[in-house]
Amino acid sequence: MDVKGKTALITGGASGIGFAYAVELLRNGVAHVAILDLANSNGNEAVKKLEKEFGKGKAIFLVCDVTNAQQLEDGFAKAVKEFGGLDIVINNAGIMDDLRWELEISINYTALVRGTLLGMKHMGIDNGGKGGTIVNVSSIVGVIPLIIFPVYCGTKHAVIGLTRSFGQPYYYEKTKVRVVAICPSITNTQLMTEAEGRTVKGTPYTALPEKQRAEPLQSVENVARGLLHILRVAENGTSWLVEKEQKPAELVIPDIPVTRG
Ligand SMILES: NC(=O)c1ccc[n+]([C@@H]2O[C@H](COP(=O)([O-])OP(=O)(O)OC[C@H]3O[C@@H](n4cnc5c(N)ncnc54)[C@H](O)[C@@H]3O)[C@@H](O)[C@H]2O)c1
Repeated sequence: MDVKGKTALITGGASGIGFAYAVELLRNGVAHVAILDLANSNGNEAVKKLEKEFGKGKAIFLVCDVTNAQQLEDGFAKAVKEFGGLDIVINNAGIMDDLRWELEISINYTALVRGTLLGMKHMGIDNGGKGGTIVNVSSIVGVIPLIIFPVYCGTKHAVIGLTRSFGQPYYYEKTKVRVVAICPSITNTQLMTEAEGRTVKGTPYTALPEKQRAEPLQSVENVARGLLHILRVAENGTSWLVEKEQKPAELVIPDIPVTRG
């Protein structure tokens, strides 16, 4: 996909990696970005910053708690109305807080499912759209275990299964909507820096394998550059790891992981 002139919607785009996605998309010629985030988020500030760098009317902030189905539906509908359609949907909003694991599942998975369905609805050619791309935000812990946040880890595994399933040709042939996943490794945002103390049963960071504890945080800018690469080259249904300030690498997930003799 050439992102020039396209329109994008980002959930949880007021700060962290989501905001970096907005910057990188506009820097690469995207026409308009809609940021859907909480009422008490940095949404208004984020739009001011984007307009300062890229010009008036390039970004809008829509108040939306993604766990509220009506608000999410309204957010998509307003963005479509404002921009005359959507080409890119990034289901990014997420928390890492296993003390509030039911809310964590609602944000990281249930709302992401709804965002995927809404993306299909508004972009699918079977419903009057012009096709497009849905990027679902998983994590490196979408494919490896995470001792201190087992529920978070489960939500990120679920995102990959959903993406691979909606990424099958059966859906694409009807909708012309590509569905892919981005899987950042640990990245320098509030989600990471405030994570300690939110582990299930207060499991300490020392429970993490030494290798994971010692890993430096990558920049949000690297993840955002990774997103642009993925939008340009990713095949439908694929999942991409972005880690250690490097370019994305496609995850190889075997279709049938077990062979019996
Ligand atoms: N930071 C990392 O190391 C890392 C690694 C892999 C994946 N991720 C994933 O990347 C995504 C973004 O994470 P981040 O590190 O930028 O986090 P962050 O905490 O910096 O930003 C998250 C954003 O989501 C918004 N948000 C939270 N709950 C919401 C809700 N109910 N409705 C709407 N918006 C809501 C917040 O207001 C915030 O703007 C998440 O899905 C996260 O799981 C992060």
